[in-house]
Amino acid sequence: MRMSVIGTGYLGATHAAGMAEAGHEVLGVDVDPARVAALAGGEAPFHEPGLPELLRRHVASGRLRFSTDPAEAAEFARLHFIAVGTPQVKGSHAADVRHVDAVVEELVPRLRGEHVLLGKSTVPVGTAARLQDRADALAAAGATVEVGWNPEFLREGRAVADTLRPDRLVLGVDPDRGGAAEAAARECYAPLLAAGIPLLVLDLPTAELVKVAANAFLATKVSFINAVAEVCEAAGADVVELSRALGHDPRIGARYLHAGLGFGGGCLPKDIRAFMHRAGELGADQALALLREVDAINIRRREKVVGMVKAAFGGLALGRRVAVLGAAFKPDSDDVRDSPALSIAGQLALAGAEVRVHDPEAMGNARRVFPTLDYRDSVGEAVAGAELVVVATEWRVFRELDPAAVGALVAERRVLDARNCLDAPAWRAAGWEVTGLGR
Ligand code: UDX
Repeated sequence: MRMSVIGTGYLGATHAAGMAEAGHEVLGVDVDPARVAALAGGEAPFHEPGLPELLRRHVASGRLRFSTDPAEAAEFARLHFIAVGTPQVKGSHAADVRHVDAVVEELVPRLRGEHVLLGKSTVPVGTAARLQDRADALAAAGATVEVGWNPEFLREGRAVADTLRPDRLVLGVDPDRGGAAEAAARECYAPLLAAGIPLLVLDLPTAELVKVAANAFLATKVSFINAVAEVCEAAGADVVELSRALGHDPRIGARYLHAGLGFGGGCLPKDIRAFMHRAGELGADQALALLREVDAINIRRREKVVGMVKAAFGGLALGRRVAVLGAAFKPDSDDVRDSPALSIAGQLALAGAEVRVHDPEAMGNARRVFPTLDYRDSVGEAVAGAELVVVATEWRVFRELDPAAVGALVAERRVLDARNCLDAPAWRAAGWEVTGLGR
C-alpha cells in the first residue's frame, strides 16, 4: 500500500520506517530540509535504537523516500498519516496544534479523488472533528477526505518495537462517514492484525482521549510512587522495597512504579498539562485537581534533589564541584525536553555549583538547550575532583560503573542516586556514602 507520513520527528520517522518494514511504500514529508536530507541518506536525526538499520534497509530498497513537498504526498498516496508535533503553547498549558492544522491546510486542497487522513499526533479532544470540517471545506470539487484518529503509544528508546508490535491499535472514526478511514487502517495494519494485535475502533473523541488518558495514568503512577517516596523519607522507610512489594499485586503491577527524579520528556509533562487545559475548556474542571497534583509532585522531586545537594554542602552549593551523570530525560534516548536531569544540573549551576555533566547520547541536545553548563566527554572527566556525584539518568553505563574505579577519581566518595538505580551495597562496600530518593 502507498502512504505518506507527514512530520518526521520521533513519531513520524519511526512510523514511516515501520510501515516500510511492514511491506508498504512510504513517503515521509517534513518542512525541515536538513532532516529530510539526513533521513533520505538513511540517517536517523535522533538516537533511537534499531531505527538507523530500518531506515538504511528501506531507503536502499526504495520503499522509503523523503521529501519536503506536500504536493508529492498528494500525488503519491491515498492514505496520509499526520505525525507532526503538538508542543506546549508558550505561557499556557494548552497544546499547540498549529502544525496539525497546517498539514490539513497544505495537503487537502491538493488532493484529488478519495483520500484518508489518519492523525497520530497527540491532540486536544475535539481536534479530529474540527479537522474533518476543515477538510470538507478545503477539498476540491470531486475529492473526498475522511479524517480518522490513530493515536500512537510508542516510547522513546523502544519506538521501533512499539511500532511493529504495539499492545493495541486504536482507531477513531466518524461512524456517519463512509468507512474509508477504517478500511485504509485495516489494509495498512493488515500484517499487525494478522499477528493478533487488537484493533479497537472507537469514535473520534474517545480515540483522542485514549492517548492523553494513557499518558495521564502513567504520569499518575510515577507521581504516586514519588509521593509515597516523600512519606518514606519522612518515616525512614525504603520506597524501593515498598514498590517491589506493591508490584506483586497484579491489580497494581510493578511497572511505572520506579521512584526517583520523576518523569520528563516530550510527552508526559505536556500531555497532562494539555489534558488539564482541555478539561477546563470543556467545563470538566474537577478532573484537573488530580493532574495538577501529579505535576506538582513531579516537580517537587527535582527541588528535593537540588535541596539534598545543597544540604550535603551545609546548605550552600556555591563553588562546590558536582558531577551530574545524565542529561537525557531517560536512558536510551538523546531527548532532553523537560529532562529532570538537565533541570537539576541547570539549577545547581545557577546556585553557583561547579557542575560537570556527562551523558552517553544527549550531550549535543543538552548543549543546545543549556549551553552554559560544563559538558564532559566521559564519566571520568565529569567526576574528576567531584565532591558529590549525582546519578540523574539511569543509563546502563552508569548503573554498571565500578565504584572503586570512580572512587579513585573523585575528591569525596559521595553519590546521590536520584534514580535509585545503583547497587548501593556494592558502592558502600567501596567506601561511598550513598543517598537515594525515598529510602
Ligand atoms: C511516554 C509513553 O510511555 C508513551 O506511550 C507515549 O507514546 C509517549 O510518552 P516516553 O516519553 O518515551 O513515552 O517515556 P516513558 O518511557 O513512558 O517514560 C516517561 C518518564 O517517566 C521518563 O522520564 C522516565 O524516566 C519516567 N519514569 C518512568 C519514572 O520516573 N518511573 C517509572 O517507573 C517509569
